[in-house]
Amino acid sequence: MAAAMPKSERIGLYPGTFDPITHGHMDIIRRAAHMVDWLIIGVAKNAGKSPLFSPVERVKMVQREVKKLHNTNIKVKPFDGLLVKTAQEMGASVLIRGLRGIGDFEYEMQMAAINRQLYPEVETIFLMACEGTQFVASRHVKEIASLGGKVIAFVSEDTAADLARRYSPKKPRGGAKSRGPQLI
Ligand code: COA
Repeated sequence: MAAAMPKSERIGLYPGTFDPITHGHMDIIRRAAHMVDWLIIGVAKNAGKSPLFSPVERVKMVQREVKKLHNTNIKVKPFDGLLVKTAQEMGASVLIRGLRGIGDFEYEMQMAAINRQLYPEVETIFLMACEGTQFVASRHVKEIASLGGKVIAFVSEDTAADLARRYSPKKPRGGAKSRGPQLI
């Protein structure tokens, strides 16, 4: 009988800003979780993008969405600094990125090449975004929400509510009622 091969656990890291997490991200998370033993969702602080939600808020929002999947092999962790350093610290051998279309390709190819140069032990794997999420971007979702449009086609109800709260005009002191219809 052949001896069983010693099996080391494969850890995948799916990094992003997730400001906010969309159905597109969830599609990638669902599929990536089947490919690795552990999937770590790395929520980047990414001050360069001036995110709408703080890192703590984004981690909580991602955790809330991931909980709905009932997968026990997914963890959510914040990170700051170099992605490959984080991958190394977390013991990840695979970086997962989603590709929505040709527009993502050049940026992602550069990032994968740089990351490989910095840390050859980590391999980037791209998952093609599923039909229906190829045009979703967090920036568009925020713009729609800020203008009072419905974002429920792109994000969960909970996230839509978070966006609505964030963009709702602050009530003046004295508790005056807000005017205008609630569209989300
Ligand atoms: N479905 C829907 N939307 C998607 C998506 C998918 N499958 N995949 C990406 N997007 C969207 C995101 O919502 C985001 O939209 P936005 O620009 O409007 O916010 C955009 O596509 C890409 O963002 P995201 O996937 O969140 O990645 P990012 O580009 O914001 O973050 C990091 C990239 C954090 C991984 C990268 O900046 C990084 O590695 N930072 C660490 C520093 C470092 O190591 N730098 C050297 C790297 S070469």
